[in-house]
Amino acid sequence: MSGIRIAPSILSADFAQLGDDIAMIEAGGADWIHVDVMDGRFVPNLTFGAKVIETVRRLTSLPLDVHLMVVEPERYFDDFVAAGANGLTIHAEVSPHLHRQLTRIRELGATAGVALNPSTPLTAVEDVLDELDLLLIMSVNPGFGGQKFIEHSPDKIARARHMLDAAGSRAALEVDGGINRKTIVQCWRAGADTFVAGNAIFAASDPKGEIAALRAQCVQTV
Ligand code: DX5
Ligand code: ZN
Repeated sequence: MSGIRIAPSILSADFAQLGDDIAMIEAGGADWIHVDVMDGRFVPNLTFGAKVIETVRRLTSLPLDVHLMVVEPERYFDDFVAAGANGLTIHAEVSPHLHRQLTRIRELGATAGVALNPSTPLTAVEDVLDELDLLLIMSVNPGFGGQKFIEHSPDKIARARHMLDAAGSRAALEVDGGINRKTIVQCWRAGADTFVAGNAIFAASDPKGEIAALRAQCVQTV
């Protein structure tokens, strides 16, 4: 289905059977695999680094959408792209040299994204739209899977859609946090095209079917 990307977050996968879980979401029609890197500094939690990205790379040919919730993200660009990341998304809150950082990600051959926390205004990316391949609107405060969707998020997505369209930007507009069958519709209507979902997919009794169900929610409302 063109125009809608579902990106399951492996944060909610079972790491004892990561290969099986990835094969399952791939068979279920996932478009990208979302990989949440957390450093215990920008966010309280710790997750994974280049070694796991490299492992996931060997398990799938799907694009790896790597979300860096880390301070000084530029320290990891080379290693993560070498490990097989297709896209790197960095947080504006910890990236004072966004223009340089996005340019560097692209130089390495990956797509460059910026994530905004719920409290960070869209103006943080207004002057780097030409360097942006993806804008990620966080619909929870980052750090953990399974949190509740912040209701204000669709309003911010609508404003982001307007900003990107007005600039003629073709950047993907991604939303991450608390996405389920209900919230995905609100975000799709507001103009998002790429949807990260962790808990909604991996805690479902039929994760494969859940990917299709999430996608169908958007298609039905076109
Ligand atoms: C949150 C992460 C998310 C998380 C989403 O900090 O960036 O990608 O895995 O999980 P759910 O869909 O369970 O909110
Ligand atoms: Zn994420």
